[in-house]
Amino acid sequence: MSRLLRFVKRYGIAAAGAVYAFTFGMRSSRHRALVHGIAAHFGHDDQPPRLLPVVGIDDVTSPETRVMLAEPMGVDGNVSLLELLVIARLVGERVPRSLFEIGTFDGRTTLALAANAPDDAVVYTLDLPAGTHTQLSLAPAERQFVDKSGSGTRLRGHSASGKVRQLFGDSAALDFRPYAAQLVFVDGSHAYEYVLEDSETALGMVWRGGGGVVLWHDYGSWEGVTRALNELHARDARFSGLRSIAGTTLAILDAGPA
Ligand SMILES: C[S@@+](CC[C@H](N)C(=O)[O-])C[C@H]1O[C@@H](n2cnc3c(N)ncnc32)[C@H](O)[C@@H]1O
Repeated sequence: MSRLLRFVKRYGIAAAGAVYAFTFGMRSSRHRALVHGIAAHFGHDDQPPRLLPVVGIDDVTSPETRVMLAEPMGVDGNVSLLELLVIARLVGERVPRSLFEIGTFDGRTTLALAANAPDDAVVYTLDLPAGTHTQLSLAPAERQFVDKSGSGTRLRGHSASGKVRQLFGDSAALDFRPYAAQLVFVDGSHAYEYVLEDSETALGMVWRGGGGVVLWHDYGSWEGVTRALNELHARDARFSGLRSIAGTTLAILDAGPA
């Protein structure tokens, strides 16, 4: 095939793909990211700026730490492989006995938490059942992650799932007082009000757990997360240690006991 023909074929596929991505494909965050990317290419940027101080991956974790990554292949809604590595390293190094994840989705990160935690650890993971009325408003684009066919589907058949306890409900409505943790992963709703609420909840659990680490996902990629964490860092002394981890959308806070 001549170079011209190959280009015409590629052009046709790209044009058809663009029509799909900009219409029916808008449900996928991959396609919405494409729109953001193209808009950014032409000089448009409506994301709040990333204001948190940045730390390197090897400053918060060690490259020497061995990790188990049971489900390396991600889908839309999961953390990136690099983020999974950072999370797994942190668990391996901090040795938390009790871990809490807000936002199970398919359970890929839940598994990484469980697989790298000590044998006697318990990983609680909370998910919002599809169709549940929520106390606060969700971000419009996140319905696709809520309205999935099953929660924690990747947990089935893995030996590490024995450490996992699945919980179901709205993070703004659940009574978290029975839970204490040394590591909390906040990855539920991306709406601003929810991020504020879940951050408060996470800090409370770490305090009850005698101190530990809170991680957030999607800093810099979801407006609600970025705005909430920027504000908490600037205005609330309890969150002044918040840092963004370079090359990822993870934010981290080391929190001592209350
Ligand atoms: C982006 S996904 C989480 C991805 C997952 N942590 C991972 O790393 O693969 C967000 C999840 O949070 C759940 N969620 C959204 N709002 C919630 C709420 N108010 N309470 C509890 N879970 C919520 C959704 O149902 C969805 O499963």
